[in-house]
Amino acid sequence: MTRIIHITDLHFWHIVRNPLLLCNKRILGNLNLLLRRQHYVHQERAQSFIDLFPSLEADALLIGGDLTTTATEAEYRQAAVFVNTLAQFGIPVYMTAGNHDLYTFESKRQQRFEKHFGNRLEKAGIPSLKFLPGGTPLLIVPTARPNLLSSRGHISNTQLQDTQTLLEQAPEGPLVVLAHYPVLSTPSHHSNYMRQLGNGALLHRLLGDTSRPILYLAGHVHVFSHTRDPQFPNLEQITSSALFYEKQHHPGGFTEIVYTDGEVAVHPWQYNNGWKRTPESCDTTSAKSL
Ligand SMILES: [Fe+2]
Ligand SMILES: [Fe+2]
Repeated sequence: MTRIIHITDLHFWHIVRNPLLLCNKRILGNLNLLLRRQHYVHQERAQSFIDLFPSLEADALLIGGDLTTTATEAEYRQAAVFVNTLAQFGIPVYMTAGNHDLYTFESKRQQRFEKHFGNRLEKAGIPSLKFLPGGTPLLIVPTARPNLLSSRGHISNTQLQDTQTLLEQAPEGPLVVLAHYPVLSTPSHHSNYMRQLGNGALLHRLLGDTSRPILYLAGHVHVFSHTRDPQFPNLEQITSSALFYEKQHHPGGFTEIVYTDGEVAVHPWQYNNGWKRTPESCDTTSAKSL
């Protein structure tokens, strides 16, 4: 049996008061933070998650990106302390960046994600193949990039080619993909063009054409969903809740995934006056590709 914990969209935040740091898209993100996000991203729950973590008896921790909000040095430091504390429990930690981790072109130039998490990355921006405890292959696919205004993701032709090569190299059997952006347009109310994955349809076809069982773990949409692709039934997608959220229709949470003899059980957890494990999720049926 292998137990994976998938957390995503932590969105550690720190309000910027230095005007020199606000000469870019961050001025919008900071305004959003001041007026809205600081009220529903309860980063003070970080310690309660750390306290819970050993009892989950996880074999691996997967982090789906958006660890920060406007990709400042201060937010990265908060996120790194959190991740390093969890890593001290002695299990492998795998991660990918979200669009908020590359919020400004300056944060990308400064290679802030690599600076704080480089020891956990093969090469940022390049797909990589790992193996989970128990031997299931894990394909980490980068899908985020900085944008002037939108929250749109992108996977380049080179990244698609690298993904295809790694898919061919991975031993047969079930495979897990870790990415920030969903590859199916569920939940549908989060699927508008400005928030979608550019070239997502190509990635979708690439994964579908393998015919092998693929569990695709994504974030970005901030709500839990579990979907089997009607076009490629070998493809199952899970989006996890934003870890520290507390918003109407958007409770905070994470996802526990248990592999037993090739069978997968999916248990969403929610925060409701404490972390609560909810009943096993069955995949829903309505989904379409991007
Ligand atoms: Fe997010
Ligand atoms: Fe995102």
